[in-house]
Amino acid sequence: STFGYTVDEWVGTRLSQHASGKAFFQMARKALYSIKHFNEFDQVIFESEMLRKDGTEIPVEITGKLLFNKKGIPIGLQGTTRDIAERVQAEEQNRLFSKIIETTRQSIIITNIKGAVLYVNQGYCDFSGFEEDEVIGNSMFRFAQKKDALKLAKEVVPALIKNKYWHGDMNVVKKDKQIVPVDLICSLLSDKKNKPEFLVAIFSDITERIQAREALQRRNIELTLLNRVIAAASMTMEPEVVLETTCRELALAFNLPQAAAALLNESRTAAIIVAEYLAEGYTSALNVELPIEGNPVMEYVFENKAPLVITDAQKDPRMAVIHDEIQQRGTVSMLILPLMAHGQVVGTLGLDSVERREFSREEIDLAANAVSTAARALENAQLFSQAKRRLKRIEALHSIDKIISSSIDLNLTTNLFLKQAQIQLEVDAVDILLFDPLTLNLKCIGRTGFKTSALKYTDLRLGQGLAGQVAQQREIKHIPNLLEEKELFQTSPEMSEEDFIVYYGIPLIAKGVLKGVLEIFHRGPLSLDSEWLMFSNALAGLAAIAIDNASMFNDLQRSIMDLSIAYDSTLEGWAKTLELRDYETEGHSRRVVEMTVKLAGSMGLPADQIVQIRRGALLHDIGKMGVPDSILQKPGKLTDDEWEIMQQHPVYAFNALSGIEFLRPALEIPHYHHERWDGNGYPQGLKGEEIPLAARIFAIIDVWDALNSDRPYRKAWSKEKILAHIKEQSGKHFDPRVMDAFLKIIELT
Ligand code: C2E
Ligand code: SIN
Ligand code: SIN
Ligand code: SIN
Ligand code: FE
Ligand code: FE
Repeated sequence: STFGYTVDEWVGTRLSQHASGKAFFQMARKALYSIKHFNEFDQVIFESEMLRKDGTEIPVEITGKLLFNKKGIPIGLQGTTRDIAERVQAEEQNRLFSKIIETTRQSIIITNIKGAVLYVNQGYCDFSGFEEDEVIGNSMFRFAQKKDALKLAKEVVPALIKNKYWHGDMNVVKKDKQIVPVDLICSLLSDKKNKPEFLVAIFSDITERIQAREALQRRNIELTLLNRVIAAASMTMEPEVVLETTCRELALAFNLPQAAAALLNESRTAAIIVAEYLAEGYTSALNVELPIEGNPVMEYVFENKAPLVITDAQKDPRMAVIHDEIQQRGTVSMLILPLMAHGQVVGTLGLDSVERREFSREEIDLAANAVSTAARALENAQLFSQAKRRLKRIEALHSIDKIISSSIDLNLTTNLFLKQAQIQLEVDAVDILLFDPLTLNLKCIGRTGFKTSALKYTDLRLGQGLAGQVAQQREIKHIPNLLEEKELFQTSPEMSEEDFIVYYGIPLIAKGVLKGVLEIFHRGPLSLDSEWLMFSNALAGLAAIAIDNASMFNDLQRSIMDLSIAYDSTLEGWAKTLELRDYETEGHSRRVVEMTVKLAGSMGLPADQIVQIRRGALLHDIGKMGVPDSILQKPGKLTDDEWEIMQQHPVYAFNALSGIEFLRPALEIPHYHHERWDGNGYPQGLKGEEIPLAARIFAIIDVWDALNSDRPYRKAWSKEKILAHIKEQSGKHFDPRVMDAFLKIIELT
């Protein structure tokens, strides 16, 4: 039946009819010749193809033996055949599988149940650098990574026992000791009795996949960091730093070589690039003016208060207005975002790609988010730097005043004065002309910031030249554009080389008597805001006093302005700004200051310390200027990250204000008001009397007042509850001695 014949048909046929060509006989002959001694027990077994009745070939196993007669003479052949089609097919499959196993790039290791390697494929050898015989017989664990041992014991082995299968990530060691992450499939092969027999491990190198995954994770982290970085930049309280940080962080997060921030100029006709980030080799665009009107890009962003993507900046007609700049910068794709303040667009932030690039919705949202964080930080920074500048100026007056009152050396005073005036007024040049009441002449007694000897030998008569007019009319003279009035300095030809644009002359008058003229020059436009005008007047007042002192050679009582009043009103304005932002109730600062001063007084602190304590209490939370609104005004509990930023507010205060000499003694409270008596406070974790007394005093008042007030995250507490809480914190949060004094004044009220 194997051959498709009936018995009758089969009998009488010749063997050659069933043999498939010569091959069969060659096989048969070879098999027979291998038999050395013919006898009836010898038999040959070979495989060959034979022919079926229908002419198709089938693979068969043939067992043949000789038949002998009684005398031992061979008389015939007896053959049995077995259809081995299935086996051949299986072998064919096996061959195919082996081929696959041998040629696959995956690594395959087969071990016995103890982990001794029985087989490795070529893929493994190529990958690991080991030769087959370096591995076979060794324990598979020699090629595993030590740090995976725990995973093997805790995870892989139990899974294999339970499911005979495990799939996951591992690390393997190559011959060169390099450790490579792999994706590994382990399976346990069992014998027929279900007893585990072999362990098969198949794995492939996933270094690249891991790198890609890590890059993605890094990017996610970067992007969440972005907002924190920008928020933290506001702690420097410098507007340019905030914008620069934003540009840099966004460029890095988006992997772009350049980003630039532009702010509207005063006349709102153009945005001027004030901060940028440039990868190496890119050209700065600082101070470039981007016109608004007639510039479709700017018009779009300003009108819609929305981001705009330009995909091909070189060809886009909307970029025509700044086409040259775009060419120069090599920009191809751009994302332009509005910088918003008080609901108005105040500038733009542009991200430039020098390759064509799409910006996904998600990316645009992300960038927009970062930019709005930056814009808010910018607002705070601008407020802060304005106030800081005012303090600096007051401080300059203070130091000039000190020198004047202790010195009658006019030269010394003059030089110090001129330097301070130049720095604090932020102008290019300043000079002082002295009026001689005998000759009625004006002579230069000091100058700074000049390139030439212009005006050095000035000797003007009253009414002559600009200074002469200032002196004669005893009035301030302001010339916004000297270029248009060239004839004004005929007596000093070098003046034209100075390139001054703005002139500002102030008469110096002490006790009603003309002492001279203060002249201010600037080589660019100068915005004379009210602060500047006040300050220049105050300076002129001091200069007049200095000249008066020197010329009188005596120490007359001077009617100096009360500088401390100027300081304190500045500080109060500042505290108010923060009060608004922090949603503190009206008068919170005043209340806190009054109570602190009262408590300090009741503890017998001297008056000069109480002055500092008053200022410190007023400014206690000024560092919250560096905390973003999203955290400061959050209606709920802070996350760990937010809390970490919040805890920086005492440090922000110290960093921002320690440069102002005048405020240093007042900084103890802003810096240390969140330290705790038991050492569990922040930012430094100071303990007990390490904490300045002023800060220990203030801490109680702060909590008292905070709990008395509604907060975005909770309602005010009742008086009883507050008092119980504060008493309970004696020796923990609060200094027990201060606590006693506090309870006494609370009982009195
Ligand atoms: P703050 O609101 O002026 O509170 C000053 C201090 O009063 C707090 O310092 C804390 O010692 C005490 N205090 C305020 N509210 C509570 C309260 O509900 N329970 C208790 N037991 N004590 C209170 P602290 O904790 O170092 O916080 C500093 C600043 O951080 C706070 O100033 C506030 O601006 C902010 N902050 C603290 N917790 C949260 C919060 O859960 N959400 C939000 N949005 N801000 C918080
Ligand atoms: C202040 O208390 O002086 C203003 C800061 C604040 O709102 O806590
Ligand atoms: C917070 O995590 O929101 C503040 C908790 C605290 O006051 O310590
Ligand atoms: C100071 O007292 O000079 C400043 C205190 C501080 O370190 O915050
Ligand atoms: Fe605080
Ligand atoms: Fe406060």
